[in-house]
Formats: sequence, C-alpha cells, structure tokens
Amino acid sequence: MHTYMTWNLDTILARTGTEPDPETGALAPPIHTATTYVRNSDGQPGEFVYSRLGNPTRQRLEHALSESEAGTGAVAFSSGMTAAMTLCQSLRPGDHVLLPHDIYFGVRTLLMEHFTRWGLQVSDVDQRDLDAVARAMTPKTRLVWAETPSNPQLNVTDIRAIADLAHEAGAALVVDNTWATPLITRPIELGADIVLHSVTKYLGGHSDVLGGALIFARDDAWYQGAVRLASEGGAVLDPFGSWLVLRGMRSLAPRLRQQSATASELAHWLESHPGVESVNYPGLTSHSGHPIACKQMSMFGGMLSFCVRGGADQALRVVHRSQLFANATSLGGTESLMEHRVSIEGPNTPTPPNLLRVSVGLEHGNDLKSDLDQALGS
Ligand SMILES: Cc1ncc(COP(=O)(O)O)c(C=O)c1O
Repeated sequence: MHTYMTWNLDTILARTGTEPDPETGALAPPIHTATTYVRNSDGQPGEFVYSRLGNPTRQRLEHALSESEAGTGAVAFSSGMTAAMTLCQSLRPGDHVLLPHDIYFGVRTLLMEHFTRWGLQVSDVDQRDLDAVARAMTPKTRLVWAETPSNPQLNVTDIRAIADLAHEAGAALVVDNTWATPLITRPIELGADIVLHSVTKYLGGHSDVLGGALIFARDDAWYQGAVRLASEGGAVLDPFGSWLVLRGMRSLAPRLRQQSATASELAHWLESHPGVESVNYPGLTSHSGHPIACKQMSMFGGMLSFCVRGGADQALRVVHRSQLFANATSLGGTESLMEHRVSIEGPNTPTPPNLLRVSVGLEHGNDLKSDLDQALGS
C-alpha cells in the first residue's frame, strides 16, 4: 500500500482506497465477496483465510481509517454501537468507565444498562469541568470516554486536558469523533489512545450504510484485543458496507466544508431569531466551549441544536411544519434532518424538552433559513 501521510488530509481523503487493484489496475476498489480463500499446495494459508477474520475490501477501509486519523491500526465494525460494545467487552468486570454527562444516548444506555450487569462500573461527569473529572476518577478507572462536540448539546471537551487527566490516573482515553470527523478534530494527535466512529454518519455520508470503527494510537493490547474480539466474535463490517464507506470518505472534505459553512450561517441566524431561546454551536462566541473549539477544531461542523421558545409542544410543531428538514434520526447525510431528541431519548435524559437537533445537509443555506423561519412561525 502507498502511504500519503505527508500530504494534506484533503488529498489523502480524495484518494481513499484507490490504490490500483494489483490484478486489474482498477482504480475503484473491488468488492471482495468471497467468504473463504484457498490454501496453497502445501496447505498453507495466504494472507486471507476466512472473511470474518480478514477481508481485502474491509482491510482497505481499515487502512484508510487508520491513515485519516493518524493511527497505527483500525478495526471496521458492523455499526458504531458494535465498535462501542467491543471496547466494553475488552474491559474486565470491576473496571470503571467514566462517561461525559452529555453523550449519544445509545452509548449511555449500552454502558449504564447492559454493561453494568456484566460488572463494569460506569459513572458520568460534566467533562467541561476538569476538576470534576479529576475527582470522578477512581483507582479502577480504566477508560475515559469523551464525545466532542457531544450529542445532542454540543458540549466541547478539551481533549488534550482530558487525555492528561486520564493518563495520570492510569486510564486510556477514547474519543468518539463521529461528529467532528478527522477533517475537523485530530484526537490521536491531541493525546487520545482510541478514536471511535459511527461511520454511518459523515464518513459514509449518504445515509445508506451502517458501520463503525475503532482506530488505535498504538499497536498495543487494546488494538490486538479489539482485532481478536471483532474477528472471533464476528462484529465486523461486510464487504459492500466497507466499499460504501470507502466511497463516502473520498468526498468527505468538500461535503463537510459545505455543511460546516451552512451550519455556521444557520447558527448565527437562529441566535437572533425571536422564536429561539438558545443555540448550541461551537462556532458561536456565545458557546461556552468556543475557545477550546478554536484550539482543537479546524471548522465547527455540520451539527447544531437549538431550544425553541414555547416548550416541547412548540418544538414538535416546528419539526412538523418544516418542509426541508426531514423528521428523522441520524446525521451526516446530504439531506438536512431535524429531530426532537427527548421524543426518542425518553424521560430520563438530560436533554432539554424544547431542544431540536439539526444535521445540516447540502441544500442551499437560504432555502434552509426560509424553511426554518416559516416552521418557527414568524
Ligand atoms: C456520536 C455517536 N456515536 C455513536 C453512534 C452509534 O452509531 P451507529 O448508529 O452506527 O451504531 C451514534 C449514532 O447516532 C452517534 O451519534
């Protein structure tokens, strides 16, 4: 495989997985569907044996993911949640995991409801308060989990500071980089040990593939453990899914630059809209995490959330009145989505009841503003 590490990330991404196929010279990656591979005449296996253990299309994706995040190795999973689950399975009963207070609710549920039954200790803390994070560490803390900007309140965590705190306590830091992507934030370069992705979102980019990834800073026990758990437990991404993510990654840079520019325009506009109580977007100077975002984000991303004046009922009305923002979950596709998060997170969530989460697509910013304006009822 060629390495493009000295080139700009835009260049690396534009050429994701396009090393010519050695057999045919094809520039688009082949999709290898074979589940099994023949041994040589001495009965010795070649590089590939069985697709769960290793697959050429998935391997291309894993190289691309590792390269884009400046890691030393990656594992591609069947979803973001199987990536999270595998990380939890690599811990031992009694180990403590420290979550952020605001985090994708699926990850919170997985850890707090399922893995506590398997003996993990799980607690959460507002990671914007570094003293509180230091106090929340225990002698058993093995993993600190960060998600920045967080889902759905867009809290910003200082990755470098939290990595130092984790390491001082003898723990590893995993950063869920799904929302920022490697184009915007570089967790491994800031001290993270592991990066997690739901590649379902921006890396896939077209709302048509479910997948996840773990990328590792070092070829260490965490990495080797994840490779074994994923391949022996079968949590791996299929060849077509791998191919779709490779395809999506090639256009990540222009998509996300456009989405980021439009999200920024919308956030500033919403901030002065009479129907809006507050806007969560790290690019706003009013956002508490703005100074840290300026340090660790090259743009402010395509996600935002806002609280509507008039409570949950009015928030739901806005969602139903909108014509351009699809009322659907997920994020990172070419189409804009808007969702009332409490409706799907349930009553025990820290999310405010009047909060709407927006994934900004590739539509024209003026059209999105007009639609939001009419939906807000002005
Ligand atoms: C930040 C974040 N992490 C992880 C996930 C889970 O990923 P998946 O839906 O691919 O399992 C999501 C899904 O929305 C997410 O937003």
